[in-house]
Amino acid sequence: MDRKWWKEAVVYQIYPRSFKDSDGDGVGDLKGIISKLDYIKSLGVDIIWLNPIYSSPNADNGYDISDYQNIMKEFGTMQDFDALLKGMHRRGIKLVMDLVVNHSSDEHKWFQESRKSRDNPYRDYYHWWPAEKGKPAFRPGAFEADGSGWRYDKTTDSYYLHYFNFKQPDLNWENPKVRQEIYSMMRWWLDKGIDGFRMDVIPFISKDPSFPVITQAELDKNYHGRWDVYMGSGPHLHEYLQEMNREVLSKYDCMSLAEGAGMLTSTALNFVDADRKELNMGYHFEGTNLGYVPGYFKKAGPYSLVDFKKIYSDWDAVYQTKGWGTIYLGNHDQPRMATRWGNDSPEFHDYSSKLLTTFLLSMRGTPYYYNGDEIGMVNAKFDKIEDYRDIEVFAEYEKVKNAGGDLKQFIEDQKTGGARDNGRTPFQWNSSTNGGFTTGTPWLKVNDNHTTLNAEAQDKDPNSVLNYFRKMVKLRKNNLVLVYGKYTLLDKDNPNVYAYTRELDGKKVLVLLNFSDKNAFANTGINISKAKVLINNYAAPSKTGELRPYEAILYQL
Ligand code: NOJ
Repeated sequence: MDRKWWKEAVVYQIYPRSFKDSDGDGVGDLKGIISKLDYIKSLGVDIIWLNPIYSSPNADNGYDISDYQNIMKEFGTMQDFDALLKGMHRRGIKLVMDLVVNHSSDEHKWFQESRKSRDNPYRDYYHWWPAEKGKPAFRPGAFEADGSGWRYDKTTDSYYLHYFNFKQPDLNWENPKVRQEIYSMMRWWLDKGIDGFRMDVIPFISKDPSFPVITQAELDKNYHGRWDVYMGSGPHLHEYLQEMNREVLSKYDCMSLAEGAGMLTSTALNFVDADRKELNMGYHFEGTNLGYVPGYFKKAGPYSLVDFKKIYSDWDAVYQTKGWGTIYLGNHDQPRMATRWGNDSPEFHDYSSKLLTTFLLSMRGTPYYYNGDEIGMVNAKFDKIEDYRDIEVFAEYEKVKNAGGDLKQFIEDQKTGGARDNGRTPFQWNSSTNGGFTTGTPWLKVNDNHTTLNAEAQDKDPNSVLNYFRKMVKLRKNNLVLVYGKYTLLDKDNPNVYAYTRELDGKKVLVLLNFSDKNAFANTGINISKAKVLINNYAAPSKTGELRPYEAILYQL
């Protein structure tokens, strides 16, 4: 057991745009976060991961950075940032920043220069393809209605690469100057005192600059049809990560987390095996991708709990002797976990939210918990495309429209499945107008249910989802077995119950989670008659051992 602070921590992710607005412009900001630090401290969490707060024209809400060493105007100033960091550290909370270096904004000065002429000193900071060579081989552009990752730029009669929106040109990591600029920027932030980075789509940084044609047949052979060889995990990826470790990460007591797009159980250790000296952790997409209907944009179909269990168990197995895992069910790219993985009906909302919290905080691997999930916020379920704000959903909507598809059905699909704005609606602080998020007009509508579902009401209620989260965080922190203990899946084919044990130094905990809306039994073969209940989301476990809908129990055996 190689103890590390980032293994024992609970990470709380804040989406600054939607957390708390201090100046009435309808957009959350740093002063807003500062005003809520005592609330955050009251949760018991150890680390905050902040989504990007750097200068940005906001084509993709801060994932398009125009200045890596400045703060986005809407969010405040560098003084506000310093005050925030100080306020966090004073409370014993660490700060992890988003590092978005697969691409910059097209408004970054590097790109502004790069596009001026073919011999500009910044030309090779990005990937260009001269038009006289013909059209470049197809690469996908995720947030584009035509799906293309190349954009023609008239000034130099060339195409540039952008895996996301055309306002997010991909940086050329093959250029050592680019890498040095990035490392020095990282050191600058770490020298300021931040505690680490969450690295946006980091597996995509290395590309084969000859951009070979890749056929559909080849693509079909690859993970998720496109992520692996096609875009991500390029030829020099691990070389670059080792270099970054050498030049930056190894010099600080910091943590690093890869957004593991395309990361597989077979490749994960290449990133996080400590002996390789790359990164500390990565988060995979296999879990959150489960249950989507192929061929549609985030249309959630039914999912099998047996498959769900297999995914999380397989991932646990990866890290049995090396590396370290992570666990999450929600973030700013995902629908709300209560809607997607729980049950957001009035009858089961609280039980299922607590169940998911129990799951996240009783698995091995560092839990990444998304703001708002601690009060069980649910999907926005907007009825009109006009209510959305995200470029991704607009691009996908256009695709369906251009193909003459069913737009009404598309909007319906987003309600449960997943337009990203579902997870981005403003935090519901209280029952007042706009949930206490802003005195102005919020940039994205506040969910109407804020009148009943909000932090203030839950804070007062000892049985609330919020207070259950606090209890569960404490339980994890007071029981090392929940952090490092060996995980064993039980009753694996049970379609309703997820059951497992955690064991460490003679201590054994049994976790029973009924993921269904019906009563269910778990056949664990374990006698629980004398076991101590550590936590239960009902008043007390039933005498018969039968689990009620969405019941979660932790027993100490
Ligand atoms: C992943 C981020 O989580 C997402 O929000 C963003 O749109 C893309 N990367 C592009 O930066």
